[in-house]
This record gives sequence, structure tokens and C-alpha cells, in this order.
Amino acid sequence: MSVAREHWGSRLGFIMASAGSAVGLGNVWKFPYMAGENGGGAFLIIYLGCVVFFGLSLVIAELLIGRMAQSNPVGAFRTLGGRGWPAVGAMGVLTAFIILSFYIVVAGWTLAYILFMGENTFGGVDIEQSTKIFTSFIASPVQPLVYAAIFTVLMVGVVLGGVASGIERASKWLMPLLFVLLIVLAIRAVTLPGAGEGVDFYLMPDWSRVTASTWGGAISQAFFSLSLGMGAMLTYGSYMSREQNLPRDASLVVGLDTLVALLAGLVILPAVFSAGMEPSAGAGLTFMTLPTVFAQMPAGEIFGLAFFILLAIAALTSAVSLLEVVVSYLVDDKGLSRFAAAAGTGIVIFIIAIPISLSQGIWKENTIAGMTFLDFADFVTAHVMMPVGGLLIALFVGWRLGPRAVEALKSHPEQHLPLAGLWLFVLRFLAPAGIAWILVQGFFE
Ligand code: PHE
Repeated sequence: MSVAREHWGSRLGFIMASAGSAVGLGNVWKFPYMAGENGGGAFLIIYLGCVVFFGLSLVIAELLIGRMAQSNPVGAFRTLGGRGWPAVGAMGVLTAFIILSFYIVVAGWTLAYILFMGENTFGGVDIEQSTKIFTSFIASPVQPLVYAAIFTVLMVGVVLGGVASGIERASKWLMPLLFVLLIVLAIRAVTLPGAGEGVDFYLMPDWSRVTASTWGGAISQAFFSLSLGMGAMLTYGSYMSREQNLPRDASLVVGLDTLVALLAGLVILPAVFSAGMEPSAGAGLTFMTLPTVFAQMPAGEIFGLAFFILLAIAALTSAVSLLEVVVSYLVDDKGLSRFAAAAGTGIVIFIIAIPISLSQGIWKENTIAGMTFLDFADFVTAHVMMPVGGLLIALFVGWRLGPRAVEALKSHPEQHLPLAGLWLFVLRFLAPAGIAWILVQGFFE
């Protein structure tokens, strides 16, 4: 037996850390623009359906695998599944690497924007100037990498502290701060003159804007936002104790993640409408449209600063969970010290991030399947690797573990789990069928 595995210090700590993993660039950057492009309220309803029907069941399944095995993704599938299954864990570790290599680049942009807001770079600019500031910043060869390096150091620093005194402690400070900033910003946004139109757009479904790809987009977004299908929830589950009420706490984490996405939409869309801008600006909504909205608002630089601090916090606690997937594997399976694993991985990820960052500027012409390195890394992980991982995890818990999983879900032998049958049904049939459908649809698009 090796040394006892470290556990979360408290239930609240687990919830904050897991919500920290889930709440990230996906909620604040991606979700509002996806809603903006896909008919506002209609996307919201479809997204909520995906979270309730697939997301929650899979979060429970992944946390459970980790808790049962008390091990990293590769070790967990080896212990519980035997031959062949560790490949699912290995794919998760690889996925963490790829997501991190572009996540630190975009997270670096958010750090830069904190400074830009502090210096009032966007004071009085219009959308053309703001687009130029953004595109020339991300295209410059060195500057964005400096910010990515700073972000990497912060991320490695948190993970070096360990599970309870690093990740959990940081999340317990940062997540409440994030919630406060978000609520302040939401109140500011909905009380702007003309914001009502944005609120209507966001809450009244426009079904005419929904296309076949809206469904696929909503389900991939649910996966990405809930950190599913690549072992992050599994790894956090491996630090849980048997006594913790897993279904209840998993529901809380899913609820918090969804609430943040909804509120982020309620910050961004009314603000965009109030400034008379287009909600369908796509990925540029946060970095190009929003700064001009802040530029028009009284005391906008302060709200802008708060917004980008919020975004950086969200990115940091998510990146930490991605790094922890790799670190837990290197520590458990390869016997590395936490220090060597975290620092070494940080360096490797930064090196991979170099071509990804350059792909926004001097290496723009080097594409894979018509996509820049950054878009490709985002695409293969969110549209291929995470859904495939989620599909295999659903099958693993639904069929390989089966009723054994329901027993293991209980925090004490007499606990009554009224929806356990439905949960198993979702994992066995609905989730695999639904995910297979997005994958197939993605290929024919
Ligand atoms: N859930 C995070 C977000 O919404 C991204 C993430 C994916 C984090 C996978 C960990 C694992 O930004």
C-alpha cells in the first residue's frame, strides 16, 4: 500500500473545487455567444434539456468511478474495468493536454485584458478599433505568450499546493469572488437603458433560428462546460470519501455551473443590445464587442475590469482541474513527486502552446483541416475526444459496472436512491445514443 490518498478537507471545498472546474471560459466566453447565434431563449431551453438529461447523469458517473477506484483516470479504469479500459483513461489524460495547450492561450488573453481595462485602453473606442486592438494583440508573436506563461505559473502554483491546501483553498476564495462579481455585473447589465430587448431575446425562444447543428452545439457545450468525458470529474471524485452524498453534491455542482452560464448570458446579451450591437458576433463577442459596450457605459472601465477578472478566475480554476488530471496520473502511476509532475507538465504545455498562440498571427496560414491550430485543438477535444470519452464512460458505468455502480453510489448501505433506475437507463441507452448522434451528425456537416 502506498501512502493514503489525499482527500478534500470539507464538503464545501469539494463543491467549490468542482464548480471551479466546471465554471470556466466555456460558461462566460462560449455560452453567451452560442446563445446569441442560436436563437437566444431557444438555445437556453435545449441546453438545459441536455444538462438535465445527459450532463447530470454523466457527472455522477464520472465522480463515482473516481471515488470507487480512489485513483487517477488510467488507474481507475485498470482497477475497475481490466483489459482495454485503461485506454479510456489514457485518452482523458491526452485530452487534458490538448485542452490545456489552447486554454492557457485564451486565458492569457483574459489576463492581458485585465491590464487593458486597468489602463483604459478601450476608452471611447468603436467596434472597428476594438476589433483591431484584439486582432493585432493576439497576432503579435511574443506578447500573448508572455501572458500565457504568467497564467501557467499561476496554475502550476495552485496545483503544487496539493488537493486540500492548493486546489481546494484557492477555489474557496476565488469562487465566491466570482459569484459576487457576476451578480454585480448582471444587475448592472439588466438595468442599462435598452437592456430589456436583450433580456427578451435571451428569455423568449426564437425557434426559427434553431437548426440541426443547434442540438449538437448544445450537447457539446454541455460536455465542455461540465468538464465531462476526459477524467477531470473522475480525478476530483477520486479525492471524495465514501460518506459524501454523491448524487446530491453532484447536482449542486451541475446547478452552479448552469446558473453561472445563465447569468453570464444575462450580463453579456442585455449589455450588447443596450449598446445597439449584434448578439450573433460569435467568438469575438467577449473580446471585441464587449469592450466597446463597457466604453459607452458610465464607469465602464470599472465594470470591464471586474468582468475580465471574473473571466480570469473562471479560467484559472478550470485549468487547475485539467492540470490535476495529468498530475494525478504521473504521481499515482509513474511515481513522480507532485512538484516534478506539475512543474514538468506546465513546461511541456507551455511549449505546445507556442505554435497554438502563433497560429493567431504569423502561423495563421498553417492549418489542419482548414482550421488554425487553436481552432483545431478546440474542435478535436470538444467535438470528438470529449463526446467519445463520455460515450465510453456511460457504457462503462451502465454496462460494465451496472447494478454494482448503484450500490457504490450510496453513502451508507440503507440509503434510498429513488432515481437510480432512471440513472442507469440514461447511462445504458439514452446517453450513448444521444452522443453517437452528435458524433455522426458532426461528420456529415
Ligand atoms: N468546464 C471548463 C469550462 O467551461 C472547461 C474544462 C473542460 C475544464 C474539461 C476541465 C475539463 O471552461
